[in-house]
Amino acid sequence: MKGLILAGGKGTRLYPLTFTSAKQLIPVANKPVLFRVIEAIREAGVGEIGIVVGDTAEEIRQAVGLGNRWGVDITYIHQDAPLGLAHAVKISRDFLGDDRFVMFLGDNVIQGGISPLIAQFAQSDWNSQIVLTRVQHPERYGVAELSDDGRIVQLVEKPKNPPSDLALVGIYMFDHHVFEAVENIQPSWRGELEITDAIQWLVTAGYRVYPYVHQGWWIDTGKMEDLLEANGLVLEEMQHVVDGYVDRDSQVGHHVTIERGAEIINSVVRGPAAIGRNTRLVNSYVGPYTSIYHEVTITNSEIERSIVLENSRISDIPARIQDSLIGRWVVIERSPMKPKAHKLMLGDYSQVGILNGAA
Ligand code: TTP
Repeated sequence: MKGLILAGGKGTRLYPLTFTSAKQLIPVANKPVLFRVIEAIREAGVGEIGIVVGDTAEEIRQAVGLGNRWGVDITYIHQDAPLGLAHAVKISRDFLGDDRFVMFLGDNVIQGGISPLIAQFAQSDWNSQIVLTRVQHPERYGVAELSDDGRIVQLVEKPKNPPSDLALVGIYMFDHHVFEAVENIQPSWRGELEITDAIQWLVTAGYRVYPYVHQGWWIDTGKMEDLLEANGLVLEEMQHVVDGYVDRDSQVGHHVTIERGAEIINSVVRGPAAIGRNTRLVNSYVGPYTSIYHEVTITNSEIERSIVLENSRISDIPARIQDSLIGRWVVIERSPMKPKAHKLMLGDYSQVGILNGAA
């Protein structure tokens, strides 16, 4: 059994953060989503992992390396353009050979407990197993219709009239017959080789494709709101660990992780929250569902239900920052200079919500 992680793509829905950086490396609860995916695959006892990479290949290689940190072997597979999930399978054929494999989307976060499922597929004679979960808006996803005996009848991508509320989660298991499928399907209207079409091809050709309905949560972190939600869900499951320094004037609530070298000075941290390595909070408030990554400084400010990436600085902000995703090396500060005005330098596609009447 091998693992295949898809970490190419464009990440347009997370512009401007993903203009230059890989969305799979955005941390959720202070750990990049891609690292969580590698850990989930390793937990299932799979040690040979291929990662499909595109324009952000170099950044991903730098962050992941050859996999020694996890005790796995990583092979990088270059995709010239994001031509679809089934295209990513097609170009991975040399790496996968005739082995059975599990494929994960590199930007999806799933609540634990799927390793027995992968191990079960490794032992089975099924040709494919797909993971489904019940969703509120099936029309936004790839949706499966099941027969009474629980097999897959049909898969439809973003259907106007969904045949069920069971959406495809970004985890798929295949044997080598999937290569027949990816060679036989045609690009969709959006010009991509769709994995749903490949699976539908297997079903139509009479191969054994079984569903598994996942009961826990699953989040595709493709958009900011989803990232914030995933962040909250993962933070809720974390242990309370304080490795950094908390002074006597500070209050740190339940369910908070404070990493090595972090300093909490005259501040309040209300969990669930995570404070990264060498981050400094001074006279500040960090509220629930917030992750502050490494080397960040927050002074005289309040922040809640947000993610702040490394090396950013927030100081003297009068209104509480909430529901925000703040990138790397960002500076948000109160300007002493006249005229009294908001002074912004924002990248293309940035979004700012300004409080009415804020000083
Ligand atoms: P998507 O989120 O479907 O696509 P995207 O990353 O291009 O994002 P957006 O829609 O915001 O532009 O991709 C899911 C995962 O699969 C993600 O980790 C990127 C990866 N991927 C590939 O590796 N190759 C591909 O051809 C595509 C389409 C996606």
